[in-house]
Amino acid sequence: MNDLELYREQLAECDDRIIDALVERNSIIEKIMAYKEEYGIPILQPQQEKKQQRQIKEKLQDNRYEKEIEDVFHCIVRNSKRIQAQKLFSYNIILIGFMGAGKSTVSQYLKDVFAMHVVEMDQLIAEREDMSIPDIFATYGEEYFRNLETNLLIEMQATKNTIVSCGGGAALREQNVKEMKKNGKVVLLTAAPETILNRVKDSDERPLLNGNKNVEFIANMMEQRRQKYETAADVIIHTDNKSVLQICEEMIAKLKEA
Ligand code: S3P
Repeated sequence: MNDLELYREQLAECDDRIIDALVERNSIIEKIMAYKEEYGIPILQPQQEKKQQRQIKEKLQDNRYEKEIEDVFHCIVRNSKRIQAQKLFSYNIILIGFMGAGKSTVSQYLKDVFAMHVVEMDQLIAEREDMSIPDIFATYGEEYFRNLETNLLIEMQATKNTIVSCGGGAALREQNVKEMKKNGKVVLLTAAPETILNRVKDSDERPLLNGNKNVEFIANMMEQRRQKYETAADVIIHTDNKSVLQICEEMIAKLKEA
């Protein structure tokens, strides 16, 4: 055997060891999840992830392959997150609620901690139409926009383990709610009108609120929508005075029961 063949054999052995280590690592991830579940420990522990990152960074200090190995760990951690998400949610999570209830914030956070795929309905519709939401309303009217929402909800039924963050009006149509239920579990985020006002006051992206940014208008509109939102929801979460981490933990716990 010449040297080249020998090196290739060594490389294959090395790959085998990596595969074995990854299998072991993934099964440890599953054991950690099972332990947390058994003892009621929160699934999300961002401090632990930071600690782990620091440990790896320290270990790799002065290593000639620091950047390359860090890159590999990035993928490993992302995949561990996916394994957790797939174990927790075998379905899509549909976030509904009034404008400013926290749907986008929560979906971005879940994307971060579980490496889940997120579909921001408004954003995707605006991209596909090549127009902002206010322009779609002004040019084609609300009905046209609502039809786009319905079609997108039907399209999303082909996926799972995805967060679908709906526009605030999506759950008002009965047909949309039916399509949501075929997608997965529906989570309603709510907040007090004062909190909503605070969150939306600096944005012009919501045509229905432009010129109406006051507590009275918001409270009225929320009340008109409340029953439809609540009927659509499998789980309801109040977001006032809670961190996004607390909201997500509550959501994970309630989804398990739902
Ligand atoms: C709407 C909410 C908006 C957007 C559109 C209509 C609504 O989405 O879809 O302006 O009817 O509540 P956000 O809830 O993401 O702001």
